[in-house]
Amino acid sequence: MDERWRQHWKRIHDGKDDTDLSWYQRTPVPSLRLIERAGVGKDARIIDVGGGTSRLVDALVHRGYHDITVLDIAAPALELARQRLPQDMRAKVKWIQADITEWDPDEAYDVWHDRAVFHFLTEASDREAYKQRLREGLKPGGHLVIGTFALEGPERCSGLPVRRYSPKSLAVELGSEYELIESEREDHRTPRDVVQSFQFSRFIRR
Ligand SMILES: C[S@@+](CC[C@H](N)C(=O)[O-])C[C@H]1O[C@@H](n2cnc3c(N)ncnc32)[C@H](O)[C@@H]1O
Repeated sequence: MDERWRQHWKRIHDGKDDTDLSWYQRTPVPSLRLIERAGVGKDARIIDVGGGTSRLVDALVHRGYHDITVLDIAAPALELARQRLPQDMRAKVKWIQADITEWDPDEAYDVWHDRAVFHFLTEASDREAYKQRLREGLKPGGHLVIGTFALEGPERCSGLPVRRYSPKSLAVELGSEYELIESEREDHRTPRDVVQSFQFSRFIRR
């Protein structure tokens, strides 16, 4: 992605109250449900890609997971999420500021979570770059939990165009290396009371 992309996300997060962002959720219910259904141990390596200021990290730490990484392109988002966590919990989380399409994972994860990041990749070359990172960063047998706008979801988010998916079209996009295990729908209600359709899917890397 280019510098304008990084600046866009920095601007979105800089000095903002994150509870006003359209994707804000007090509790990330579908993500948590699918991660728990993956059945991994509390010592599983979990990464939230494009985690931003999501409360997923807080919820995972509270549930006893203790090897969590949050990656985001926007440093202000990571700082806000870090500050929110009680001090004794911060040590359980690694924070990485990086562009997921360019990042070099130095370890592989048991669970790769992405809510509302992959769907911004409208260029095939960016999706290929993401999938290359996924291949390097997710262990064989590992779980990919991914939430995107559903087929009837919005066409844009944060002023940017998105690609919408069904679990099936996402499976086609990801290729035969990933087996679709389950999926669910969510009608997400934004802070301005607009309903947005999401699909969440869990895949296993073969
Ligand atoms: C719509 S928000 C979703 C945030 C979070 N996943 C959630 O559910 O609350 C998209 C997030 O992806 C981050 N992002 C966008 N492009 C990215 C990229 N290429 N690499 C890493 N993070 C990116 C943004 O900074 C933002 O925090």
